[in-house]
Amino acid sequence: MVERIVVSPGIEQQRWRRLTGTWMMVMLLLFPILLLLGAFMRIVQANLLPTLLPEWFYAVMTLHGLGMVGTWFVGAMAAVSYVLTQYVRPSRGVSWAALGATLLGVLLLLATTLIGRFGVGWYFLYPLPFYPAGVWPTWATWTFLFSLAILGVGWTVWAVDLLRAIAQQYSLRAALAWHYIRGETEPEVPPAVLITTVSLISALSGFLAAVIILVLSFLEWAGTGFTNDALLMKNLIFFFGHVLVNITMYLGVVLVYDILPRYSGRPWKTNRLVAIAWNTVLFLVLFAYFHHLYMDFVQPQWMQVLGQVASYFISVPAAVVTIFSTLLLTYGAPMRWTLSSLLMYLGVMGWAIGGVAAVIDSTIAVNLRFHNTLWVPAHFHTYYLMGVVLMLLGFAAHFGHEVSGRSENGRLAKLIAALFVIGGYGFLSMFYLGGAHSVPRRYAVYPQEVIQGVDYARIALGFIAVLFLGVLLYLWETGRRCVLAFRTSEPL
Ligand code: HEM
Repeated sequence: MVERIVVSPGIEQQRWRRLTGTWMMVMLLLFPILLLLGAFMRIVQANLLPTLLPEWFYAVMTLHGLGMVGTWFVGAMAAVSYVLTQYVRPSRGVSWAALGATLLGVLLLLATTLIGRFGVGWYFLYPLPFYPAGVWPTWATWTFLFSLAILGVGWTVWAVDLLRAIAQQYSLRAALAWHYIRGETEPEVPPAVLITTVSLISALSGFLAAVIILVLSFLEWAGTGFTNDALLMKNLIFFFGHVLVNITMYLGVVLVYDILPRYSGRPWKTNRLVAIAWNTVLFLVLFAYFHHLYMDFVQPQWMQVLGQVASYFISVPAAVVTIFSTLLLTYGAPMRWTLSSLLMYLGVMGWAIGGVAAVIDSTIAVNLRFHNTLWVPAHFHTYYLMGVVLMLLGFAAHFGHEVSGRSENGRLAKLIAALFVIGGYGFLSMFYLGGAHSVPRRYAVYPQEVIQGVDYARIALGFIAVLFLGVLLYLWETGRRCVLAFRTSEPL
């Protein structure tokens, strides 16, 4: 039996609600702002601001990319921490400190991009940050590196604390459910604990890569005469970025495993298959990132082949097991379709669709054509926007409902879901069409050869407007409840 920690109304639970409500408010505040920055980029690509300096496009692209990736990572960590309090005891203090570090990091990022016009893109590929070519001042690079350092420290301590809490209750070996692989089922390990453990161990390996990148960057930037190896830096950066994005996805899946069963009336437990699947993920996630480096012909060929093989296999354990389990969980079940369960279900489907597009792109023969076309933002926006974002919005809806106890407007919930689906997939299909027609990614102004990119951007704007309407209605429905959760709960 899972030993649940009692969290029924009490001061402790009130404090977790205050903390989680605060995190959810930050997430729900940043989302529409960052979405509008995305819309701004599509407006530029649609040629509707012809006199704008292109460097603004790149500064906004950097802020939008980093902001979105960071927002959904911290949102997922906060939501998972709340879910985990049923089973283990994470530290609230560490989570508050992570919030402080996040806000400070965001302020520095705003300064470096909006004042300094730092425009290197979200993964700041070496050596671009060090060659501003007069576009951004030196302080902007420094500020950027400092903001990453602050975020990195805050998030690493947070991940370590969650692992500490899990290890105290279960031991890491039990939390990884190795005994299920041997055929034993005691102690019972909830899927939320298993998947969080896998995710956070991977996250720490990614954060370690980030620390090495920062140290190497500081060494070169401080004028010591030391020069970095560009291929090593690229490997480190892509390892870090790939792990961060995947981990966010898996943390979103934790929420689905824990919360969706409450709406379907069927339990979702760890079993041998689930244990094997997630332990395989722990191993494969470390190698799949090579698919970002296919164009680096100096990289040993076996690494590229390993990248393709790992990319193919990683989709089987995590995604296929989860997707089939979701279908089994809901098919013929007495489902309660609320805003939360609808969004979580759609989130799993979005993960599946984005995953297929990602596997296509990870095929070396295809990547030769699709590399750096709009196919790349197409697939990662799919599993982010229609995947993990929907899972997290589903969590926030569940949390707001649980805390406020207010009944939900069922018709409004369905309308919001419909606007998300129409607006989201419509917006994404313009990225896919662009990719299939070789429209390059990260172009502020499309040249004559790929001028159809302008039309795709214009059509995308209509769909973004539909999506934005859905987001506003969602905020009206759920944002209010999260504010209530904050106001009616115990401080600190
Ligand atoms: C409706 C919402 C969104 C819109 C309109 C939007 C729009 C855009 C556009 C136009 C680009 C530049 C594409 C190009 O390379 O030409 C972009 C890049 C990007 N977006 Fe979004 N986006 C949205 C949601 C998201 C979400 C939810 C995420 C989650 C992480 C995200 C993360 C990124 C990242 C990481 C980049 C790459 C930035 C870079 O290349 O450095 N976006 N987005």
